[in-house]
Amino acid sequence: MEGYLFWRLILQIFFIAYRGPVGYSHEVQKDLQYNPKNQPHRTAYHFQPPKNWMNDPNGPMYYKGIYHLFYQYNPYSAVWGNISWGHSVSYNLVDWIHIEQAINPTEPYDINGCWSGSASILPGGNPVILYTGSDFRNRQVQNIAVPKNLSDPYLREWIKSDHNPLMTPMNGIDPQFFRDPTTAWEGPDKIWRVVVGSQIKGHGTALLYQSRDFVKWTRSHRPLHFSNKTAMWECPDFYPVSVDGINGLDTSVQGTGTKHVLKASFNDRDYYIIGTYEPETDTFSVNPDFMDSNVKLRYDYGIFYASKTFYDSAKRRRILWGWVLEADGEPDDVNKGWSGLQSLPRSIFLDKTGKQLSQWPIEEIETLRRKEVNLQNKEIKGGTMFEITGITASQADIEVSFHLRNLDEAELMHPEWLDPQFLCSEKNAATGGVIGPFGILALASKDLTEHTAVFFRVFRGHDSYVVLMCSDQNRSSLREEVNKSAFGAFVDVNPVEKISLRSLIDHSIIESFGGEGKTCITARVYPKLAIGNESHVYVFNNGTESIRISNLSAWSMKRAQIFPLHKRRKPEID
Ligand code: FRU
Repeated sequence: MEGYLFWRLILQIFFIAYRGPVGYSHEVQKDLQYNPKNQPHRTAYHFQPPKNWMNDPNGPMYYKGIYHLFYQYNPYSAVWGNISWGHSVSYNLVDWIHIEQAINPTEPYDINGCWSGSASILPGGNPVILYTGSDFRNRQVQNIAVPKNLSDPYLREWIKSDHNPLMTPMNGIDPQFFRDPTTAWEGPDKIWRVVVGSQIKGHGTALLYQSRDFVKWTRSHRPLHFSNKTAMWECPDFYPVSVDGINGLDTSVQGTGTKHVLKASFNDRDYYIIGTYEPETDTFSVNPDFMDSNVKLRYDYGIFYASKTFYDSAKRRRILWGWVLEADGEPDDVNKGWSGLQSLPRSIFLDKTGKQLSQWPIEEIETLRRKEVNLQNKEIKGGTMFEITGITASQADIEVSFHLRNLDEAELMHPEWLDPQFLCSEKNAATGGVIGPFGILALASKDLTEHTAVFFRVFRGHDSYVVLMCSDQNRSSLREEVNKSAFGAFVDVNPVEKISLRSLIDHSIIESFGGEGKTCITARVYPKLAIGNESHVYVFNNGTESIRISNLSAWSMKRAQIFPLHKRRKPEID
């Protein structure tokens, strides 16, 4: 055992320390694919680079029939470092072709890393990228890159401008807190604006810059927004949403019929606020503001960070990508040879209430579904459960609608129960209630030694019912060293109508959408037993009241075709 640990340590030191020339790792390591024997936690339909470290999604865009996704990437190892822009392209947002890195740290203004940024489509249709460089003095500066050859459909090569850096930390901006430019938007005055994430006097700030030509940028005398309740804002995102309907809007649309969303990444979470933006004065008015009320709006109440949206002009929708971190340790990542997933691309829009956003996996994901299992009108008595059979439970998409007959006996909601995450860890799936807990046990071993519980509880609040949604990882793995915290959030639905759950399971990730996308929770789990064909999925009700499933549809999911260009294969069956 000790000998094994010794060699593992040596191997890890080697991987972490090695900073070789580009190409080295490509020759030695194989591209990793899901395999129950030696890659049981590699995903089958989530976006991952062929190997190594990935963090934030960068510059997603749609250009001439092709979707582009760039991402923070370490070409040499499975831990953060040597950050460059990985680049993949897709015709359908499901299958991806990995191509060469688009931006590498080569210049004095980005030699210590090409950090996060965004793409903007200029009038005339040409794309540009603004990104943060960590310069030779480790200062954060903003740079621009443009495609070398617009007639290359994949836009493989990008050229950095001689004008770089375009924005430098001056006049009170801390050089360590100046990064992640947003997609630009154009005001009625034909002036372009971008926001850069910062921290001024300890407060999270969205610095506003303006430019006529995209090269000379001036800092606006007022930031777009700031908050004295948070510190540094990473990866801000600012975009319009339509007040009626789910169609997305181009980032430069403003005025009647729109509200604006500001997202900021801090405390390992992506928070957002919804407000009104007046481009004439660049004022953004919101109520409530970040961290103001009990309801702190987040894109996802699980593991999901540094996200970014883009406008898909082909299908008139706004699409959200988010970085889903690993919940295992760094040595595990080195061992696996990779770290980091992207969430499924999600369509994001203003909810009917106007008070929050809703999200739904893009419809293209449904093309991976096969072997539908369906059941309707099934009662689940209190204290019972059943298995959903006939699908590959480790690679599945499950939609359930629960109907609650009788809410009279719902437990009282305690006024001090303000923290849903805490509530979910206190009252786990094994803790019986009245209306719930009910939901699914995913990535479960046959004897339930391992399982991840995604479930609801309904309480009677002061003047309405309160629906709690939880994703409890406490029993997700026999492995000790992985983070198994529970996640939770309230779902703003009326349980008298129905409570719906959709969970997309992919070996080590469970993305769950409650109340038709009003509340999303993403979890990472690393089962030891519940892998491959040994994985099961159950529906359970651990409340005393019976619950009716009005509809349950479940599918096995096909593997997405995600390969480097030279390894493109013919489509596989699974
Ligand atoms: C967010 C972040 C960004 C930064 C990038 C560096 O995860 O810290 O603020 O640009 O990652 O990789």
